[in-house]
Amino acid sequence: MCGIVGYVGPRPSQDILLAGLARLEYRGYDSAGIAVIDSEGQLGMRKKAGKLQVLRDSLADAPLADGSTGIGHTRWATHGGPTDVNAHPHLADEGRLALIHNGIIENFAALRDELTAEGVTFVSETDSEVAAALLGREYRASGDLQAAFRSVVNRLEGAFTLLAVHQDEPGLVVGARRNSPLVIGLGEGENFLGSDVAAFVEHTRSALAIGQDQIVAITPASVTVTTFDGEPVDAQPFEVSWNAAAAEKGGWSSFMAKEVAEQPEAVANTIRGRIHDGEVVIPELDGLDDLFTGVRRVIITACGTASYAALVGKYAIEQWARVPVDVELAHELRYRDPVIGSETLVVSISQSGETMDTLMAVKYARERGARTLSICNTQGATIPRESDAVVYTHAGPEVAVASTKAFSAQITALLLLGLHMGRVRGTVSASDSRAAVAELQSLSAKVAQVLAEESEHVSQLAGWMADTRSVLFLGRHVGFPIALEGALKLKEISYIHAEGFAAGELKHGPIALIEPGQPVFVLVPSPRHSALIHSKVVSNIQEIRARGARVIVVAEEGDAAVLPYADEVIRIPLAEPLFEPLLSVVPLQIFAMALATAKGLDVDQPRNLAKSVTVE
Ligand code: F6R
Repeated sequence: MCGIVGYVGPRPSQDILLAGLARLEYRGYDSAGIAVIDSEGQLGMRKKAGKLQVLRDSLADAPLADGSTGIGHTRWATHGGPTDVNAHPHLADEGRLALIHNGIIENFAALRDELTAEGVTFVSETDSEVAAALLGREYRASGDLQAAFRSVVNRLEGAFTLLAVHQDEPGLVVGARRNSPLVIGLGEGENFLGSDVAAFVEHTRSALAIGQDQIVAITPASVTVTTFDGEPVDAQPFEVSWNAAAAEKGGWSSFMAKEVAEQPEAVANTIRGRIHDGEVVIPELDGLDDLFTGVRRVIITACGTASYAALVGKYAIEQWARVPVDVELAHELRYRDPVIGSETLVVSISQSGETMDTLMAVKYARERGARTLSICNTQGATIPRESDAVVYTHAGPEVAVASTKAFSAQITALLLLGLHMGRVRGTVSASDSRAAVAELQSLSAKVAQVLAEESEHVSQLAGWMADTRSVLFLGRHVGFPIALEGALKLKEISYIHAEGFAAGELKHGPIALIEPGQPVFVLVPSPRHSALIHSKVVSNIQEIRARGARVIVVAEEGDAAVLPYADEVIRIPLAEPLFEPLLSVVPLQIFAMALATAKGLDVDQPRNLAKSVTVE
């Protein structure tokens, strides 16, 4: 949460900072600000509550003198509401120093009291202003921004990425990170800092990852990374695998629309290079068979949409690798006393690779001796670096806050992982593996088919239902996580009450919610694989229909058993059960998007949310 960008080089920095913030706006969008050291060596600052456009308009009305050293911030409020004053940057040292912050400083109250006793006055309600004031005090003592950073970071508790500039040291941006993201972009005679590579990918695809508890100083000609105690560190270089165009809307009405449409590619790209001679071969897991052979239990941990991908993964891994799998919400995992040890494999799933809850769960599992593997979409992110192994999803940058293509890529990666584990553990035969691989390879085209054949129909349906106040989703087996995901998509972007249930749970309570006209989506499993599960779901449909529900069925082509009881039928191509979620989720994403659009809502930046949740 909160997007951070820094620039130093020969060019005027304001456009670079604002463009970087536009790419990071998904991380928070309740206020934004920049600070620039101008060509006269004076620090100027502007910050505004509201979306980035409000700041842009303010700068257009009353320009700020430009210069080639600057920092910028887009906020998701934690301490203090979204006001001009609480927006970042925060100033100190009589307006000569500016600081931006992402994270939460847990001991801010004690620090604030200490500084207040020394005569410092605070204007905002934020913890971040306390860090700025502390840095100002330390700068006055040392006259050296890097030395001041070393004193400050060792006093802060909690999670933070900090960037600061001081007008007495133009041509220098200093940053530090603990449990919040920060990456370096390496340019020619210029350098960048960003919460993620999107901040600077337009200028350079060469990047350096900064580890935990490290300080970075960039000038136009140098990049220095040290520990919090000033010991030099070799940062890990990496090349960003996508270009700036991939993070543009490219003619689509929204990033979400573009990302939903990119799912065939996200699935294909996640499989690419990982199948040889009909077998799953994951190069990143080469030589790591012991991760899977000695394991007695798998825990998949994640939050939100990623946790629903995890539930699909549970079905796949248990079926293929014959090992018990539990799915744990990351924020619940470490606050009890879970049974985790050296024979536990903890698989984390995260699009951003920065979700604080998931990161903390991974660290906790490692401390308990577990082996850890992450499934992640973002290169250079923290969670993969804290894990023993990583399988990257190759969905490309996901900008819309509501996750879509990353979800499909996560399921694809879990299917690959399940098959790989099954082969390593000897629980999947070569011929079964080949059949599953062939199915996996056909999926991208089938997702494209759902998009081509059902988008218009589902959008129309959503348009008719724009006044609906509540929608329920039912599924069984792997349809259950998809019901949960369908409900989450609808809640988060259209602000409609929605619930997902395991269809078998209906009679244990939720059926009381059914009244005449209540819309219910039902994900119907294929009758070709389990006639029993199929017939049970058809019975569930009859039960809710009998009570007046408006039933919208997602069913495979040719399934005629659902026709007598459905008000609407959405068709998906035939697929093996474990692969169906990749198809059945697509209409639900389109439905949520079309309904939010019909209500005139911003589907990319829903209220109260931010994409990368880097606070607990
Ligand atoms: C919902 C959504 C969130 C994320 C969750 C985890 O559409 O995007 O529920 O899935 O916040 O985020 P990552 O995957 O970045 O760890």
